Amino acid sequence: MSSPRLINVSRAARLVGVSRGTLQKQIQDGEIASFEGKVDLDALSQAYPQVELEDNQVLEKIEDIIEKAMHRARGDKLRKLLTPDLGTLAARVASLSKELSRIKKQNNMLIELVGKTRVALTDLAAKPDNGDALRKLGSNLEQALLQPVVDAESDQLAIRDTILRIMAAQVHLIPSGHDFFVEGNTTILEAGLGAGFAMDYGCSNGNCGKCKAKLISGEVKKIRQHDYVIPEAEKNQGYILSCSNTAISDIVLEAKEADSVNEIPLQKISARVKKIDKVNNQLAVLNLRTPRTNRLRFFAGQTATLSGIGIDPAEYHIASCPCDDMNLQFHIYRDASIPFAEHVFHGIQASESITVEGPHGNFILDDTIQRPILFLAFDTGFAPIKSLIEHAMTLDANEFQHLYWLYQTGDKPYLHNQARAWSDAFDNFRYSPIKYETTNADGIRAGLQHLTADYPELDGFDIYACGPSPAIEQVTDFMRAQGVPENQLLLELL
Ligand code: FES
Repeated sequence: MSSPRLINVSRAARLVGVSRGTLQKQIQDGEIASFEGKVDLDALSQAYPQVELEDNQVLEKIEDIIEKAMHRARGDKLRKLLTPDLGTLAARVASLSKELSRIKKQNNMLIELVGKTRVALTDLAAKPDNGDALRKLGSNLEQALLQPVVDAESDQLAIRDTILRIMAAQVHLIPSGHDFFVEGNTTILEAGLGAGFAMDYGCSNGNCGKCKAKLISGEVKKIRQHDYVIPEAEKNQGYILSCSNTAISDIVLEAKEADSVNEIPLQKISARVKKIDKVNNQLAVLNLRTPRTNRLRFFAGQTATLSGIGIDPAEYHIASCPCDDMNLQFHIYRDASIPFAEHVFHGIQASESITVEGPHGNFILDDTIQRPILFLAFDTGFAPIKSLIEHAMTLDANEFQHLYWLYQTGDKPYLHNQARAWSDAFDNFRYSPIKYETTNADGIRAGLQHLTADYPELDGFDIYACGPSPAIEQVTDFMRAQGVPENQLLLELL
């Protein structure tokens, strides 16, 4: 019997074009066999017989998902980013060729070993006692060697795997166990942040040394010069700067990652106004862009204070994903008592400098839990929920998410098309806009009844809700009455 060809779950999910959460669920349900957290290519092929090598839809879907989740713009710049340069491509092919040559050598050694064993068995069979049994064993060995190599269905997946390995190398971080892929000409740090992991970094430009990490196995290639000098002793131990290197082969990297809000330092940066979308005369979506070498590190769901020259700071939820740390979004509700909000509606200029300080707050995603998630946004409580959803999509780890957006004004919520686009693009995401007419307890409770109509048992979900105080009080009472455990209820006040 041949030994199983095992690949890890992230690579398997990518290969057949489903989310990691979906594949995890199939493994948990016993639909696909796994061995020490890895998936057998043959078992995967049986579960996904429709995946053909020539079927480009899967690859397109993968790119589409990545692109949509990260809100990257289409165009030449993107294509350039996603296509590895010739040097990187050549190094990846060389690395795979080395692996192929090693496997061929191993194969030849096995053939030689079987041949020698057969000769030894023939000699033994010439002796009187165990002749028949040994002759049979020898002939079985010979038969086995003469068996033609038949292409198995799973070879389609193995070939696809090789193609994907040329296009992208996989990084396995320790001690966290997180996996991600490095595509095109991106650095390991950019790819890790883009995949939703809170890797340690400072300047992202080769100056501070904060992204230093230890290469345990595999090959990397320096694609950016750096001024920071890694001490010789550390260099000899395999330390590299993740902001200046890309991965050539699959690598294992020992790297620091923040796993609590206390591990991300408070920062003060000067960003520029990139775009303001006035949704109506009460609400504006403010997009800021940070300098390349001074980005904001934060967890999805956190807040930051914004101020301008001579304008007092005001605190807002960050509505964008930490995976895109140069582009920050805030949803600003007009309020005459808040000078910054008034400034956004009167007189803010394109490219104006805005001081951003933060991050603050504990309303963050627990990415170690794989329960399905219900998100509840009340009006502009959508801002941190949007950040959490984008982060969860980037992590690709949750089996299912459903957004309920309760809104009071207009025909639909203010970023309705955005939420609908998510539900169109992702099989495991649902969206329900719900109008609630009154802000009193009855009105809010009537809105919440939609959840129990869809899911009579809510205690199997993690529930993230953000809204004004009366709404959050009602959510708390409602969820307690439904038997949702306290640790599965994550609430944030607007
Ligand atoms: S982040 Fe500063 S050197 Fe890499």
